[in-house]
Amino acid sequence: MSTARELLGWASGVFSGAGRPEPELNAELLLEYVCDRPRLHFRIEAEETIPPSQETRFKRLARQRATGVPLAYITGFQHFRGLEIKVTRAVLIPRPETEELAGLILSGLVKYTSQSPLVLELCTGSGCLSCAIASEMPSCRVIASDISAPALRVARANAQRLGLDGRVAFKQSDFFKSLKGKTDCIAANPPYVPAGELLSAQKELSFEPALALDGGPDGLSAARKIITGAPAHLKPGGLLFLELGSGQARRLAREMDAKIWDNIVIARDLQGVERFLSAKLKTEAI
Ligand SMILES: C[S@@+](CC[C@H](N)C(=O)[O-])C[C@H]1O[C@@H](n2cnc3c(N)ncnc32)[C@H](O)[C@@H]1O
Repeated sequence: MSTARELLGWASGVFSGAGRPEPELNAELLLEYVCDRPRLHFRIEAEETIPPSQETRFKRLARQRATGVPLAYITGFQHFRGLEIKVTRAVLIPRPETEELAGLILSGLVKYTSQSPLVLELCTGSGCLSCAIASEMPSCRVIASDISAPALRVARANAQRLGLDGRVAFKQSDFFKSLKGKTDCIAANPPYVPAGELLSAQKELSFEPALALDGGPDGLSAARKIITGAPAHLKPGGLLFLELGSGQARRLAREMDAKIWDNIVIARDLQGVERFLSAKLKTEAI
């Protein structure tokens, strides 16, 4: 039988030997998950003996993590703006930048004319963004859409578990193809990795669905389709929010038609990267 300190030391060594980032933190989070105890507990009770069944499981999962499997796919969840979001390999693991996107959308909706806006989220994946918006703005309703049926099953399960399914509806669609009607706001974190960069990307990315990442030759194929299709699905004055890769927002902003879009704004994420593009549909557009 091993103590928490011994297991944490062993796993940190395995992770750093395999070149995984943040080895100590990953070891602590994995022990927290396996033992169902806050990780701070093991900092205080480092000499606590871990039962053999938990030790065996911890070592098995640590070996998986060492091969590059992201921690969220091992534990099955990721925190997102205070919500516990279930994830499977059918969905992208929610990122901190997308938590920031949720903040931008919520700030935009607070200033928006309608008190009970209807939001369309394309490319919903796990449903993290739709669930956060619905959870933090109780007056709004959300339509969450994705082309992937397995992803939508995860998103629906998240909304149900969080008690949000009454205000978040789900629709399978290839971008706008199966969607009707107009909304107050369209938001998306579309696939935006340039196809050529996918192979050379971090090992962890190879475990996530290519459908969630591959943005075509320059990474902008999905975003361009969304910008082109959005005017027909937005009410006059409606808002558009996109998350993008480094250098992409400026390029797309230049491509946007000034006869259709107003208030085109590029915003940086907390790392200083120009990450978000927002715009307002002109009242007299189309
Ligand atoms: C970058 S992930 C975003 C997931 C989630 N919204 C998030 O922020 O964590 C992109 C999502 O776009 C979806 N997607 C890819 N192609 C699509 C298409 N043609 N129409 C609709 N959704 C698509 C993928 O299935 C994936 O769930």
